[in-house]
Amino acid sequence: MADQNIESTLVERRLFPPPAEFSQQAHIKTQAEYQTLYRESIDSPETFWPRMANELHWHKKWDKLLDWSNPPFAKWFVGGQLNIAYNCLDRHLLTHRKNKAAIIFEGEPGDSRVITYAQLHREVCKFANVLQQSGVKLGDRVAIYLPMIPEAAIAMLACARIGAVHTVIFGGFSSEALADRINDSKVSLVITADGGFRRGKVVELKKNVDVALLKTTSVKNVIVVKRTGQPIEMTAGRDLWYHDLMTAPGLSAHHQAPPLDSEQMLFILYTSGTTGKPKGVVHTTGGYLLGAYLTSKYVFDLKDSDVYWCTADIGWVTGHSYLVYGPLANGATVVMYEGAPNQPKEDRFWEIIEKYGVTVFYTAPTAIRAFIKWGDQHPKAHDLSSLRLLGTVGEPINPEAWMWYHTLIGGTRCPIVDTWWQTETGAIMCTPLPGVTPTKPGSCTVPFFGVDPAVVDQKGHEVPPGSGGLFIIRKPWPSMMRTVYGDPERFVSTYWVQVKPYYFTGDGARKDQDGYFWVMGRVDDVVNVAGHRLGTMEVESALVAHPKVAEAAVVGRPDELKGQALCAFVTVCSGIRADDKLKEELKCWVAKEIGSIAKPDDIRFTELLPKTRSGKIMRRLLRDIAAGKETLGDTTTLEDYSILAKLRESDE
Ligand code: PRX
Repeated sequence: MADQNIESTLVERRLFPPPAEFSQQAHIKTQAEYQTLYRESIDSPETFWPRMANELHWHKKWDKLLDWSNPPFAKWFVGGQLNIAYNCLDRHLLTHRKNKAAIIFEGEPGDSRVITYAQLHREVCKFANVLQQSGVKLGDRVAIYLPMIPEAAIAMLACARIGAVHTVIFGGFSSEALADRINDSKVSLVITADGGFRRGKVVELKKNVDVALLKTTSVKNVIVVKRTGQPIEMTAGRDLWYHDLMTAPGLSAHHQAPPLDSEQMLFILYTSGTTGKPKGVVHTTGGYLLGAYLTSKYVFDLKDSDVYWCTADIGWVTGHSYLVYGPLANGATVVMYEGAPNQPKEDRFWEIIEKYGVTVFYTAPTAIRAFIKWGDQHPKAHDLSSLRLLGTVGEPINPEAWMWYHTLIGGTRCPIVDTWWQTETGAIMCTPLPGVTPTKPGSCTVPFFGVDPAVVDQKGHEVPPGSGGLFIIRKPWPSMMRTVYGDPERFVSTYWVQVKPYYFTGDGARKDQDGYFWVMGRVDDVVNVAGHRLGTMEVESALVAHPKVAEAAVVGRPDELKGQALCAFVTVCSGIRADDKLKEELKCWVAKEIGSIAKPDDIRFTELLPKTRSGKIMRRLLRDIAAGKETLGDTTTLEDYSILAKLRESDE
């Protein structure tokens, strides 16, 4: 665990009760209702969860709610059988939702498509048949490396339908990162596109796949969606066009959704941690769907009339739970946008909200800070009166950004749900309920049903209200990750040993007098850059893999726009010139090794790195230096005092 100071002095006294009109129509209307349900969810999970789970369609009901006999390996709804695609699609066809829009797609160049539930069902059934004909079987891993186009959701749902395990890889990751993930989960099929549009340019996804596959042996086929129409190479016998497969004579649009075990692996999503390569977070069918479904329903207060837009990419967990599975399980209309928020102009998001009459909007604080920078004229030029609820996720939101969101976007009438959760938790854990919880700018407020969080010291004792501590979860919950793919030991050592026997989130937090949680950020060696989670070790490994680099230490520093920025301290091999050209070369190298999201913002060359006598890099000092702070605290174990002065100079 890093030696970061987790105390905080932030005091925020503003309180925003939900507007009465909102509460009156909300699924949960009163504090009393929330309290009763919350208490039941904690004290009598055996009555609470079955009642909630019964809102889903089960082919076979479970025999046992929770098997926690071998902690931390949980099994939920043991013996139950269901199909996620059936829950997200088929069951809506029996209702008034059959011809309702499921996905409203807006491409970056301005093309758009509306896909109804019946149409989405048809496409998913066809693609499920394609996958099965390609030899994909229950439990096989399928990588999805696609832009934000409807085919991404179709691919995910088709995998879920047949019980294949999808691993979605964010389109911004490099071919190296793609190869690592494919190798780790031994993917047999990759679904990609000729390219995707981003900031007016084409992201060459298929080319990246071709390079990645030079380093992998498990992939038998690549299915390619035509999105941009640019020329690409197709390898005979391996690469197949999606449109050829989907229009093949004899391809059936019927597919019976098979009953799948509650604990059938649904997806693997790679996420950065404190050590080594990103780990494959495993989620399973029953508990995950329930978490995504229930939080979507109550946190976004979803109604049939809503037009719901989550701006996250499907490459991240938010895109999984709140663009695809959660809203579709609720039968909602989901807006999906392919591109950047400032393409062609800085008002693109507001234009989309006006165009489709978006009612619920969910985005990240880093985006909000960019909107503030771009100026109020952009939202003001659009009619945003359709909005009724706003959400944020991914990092702490600074109160100024919260107030801007509330005023400029929400017209002071929309509640804001600041939702705290993680890839590992599968679904939202701490959040206001929009019709109930008075909000405080910067706080994710109170736990969702079934979630038992606490702020504790290193020994696991709760700290007094207002004090900083480690943020933990004390009880298992249905959508919790089940393991690290192929490495159960790592699952235990990453999350379950620091504050035994509880789940440690990696975050520091405090709980105020009203019982509200304030998440302060990571206390481990993970940084949150523009809402993207990166392991500093991962970036360090990429840097030291460069032939001119001897040693590297990477830390986060505060950044007004991105929340945190990456600062790399680098020592070069002897005889190498440490100049601006090399800085650029190293930044591009990291982009090639991981992806441009991991590009260090600052590179500082130094002759030595500050270390303790036992050889550990003193990251706290580096963080202070990166942040431009006078170094505070204990430096008595510093091996070489002169290094500090030199590191500071390296900034000059
Ligand atoms: O540090 C917390 C921060 O994002 C981390 C989880 O990152 P990831 O797994 O990529 O998932 C992001 C989307 C769920 C957390 O450990 N985080 C997420 N939401 C919030 C947050 N920090 C403060 N407030 C939030 N609302």
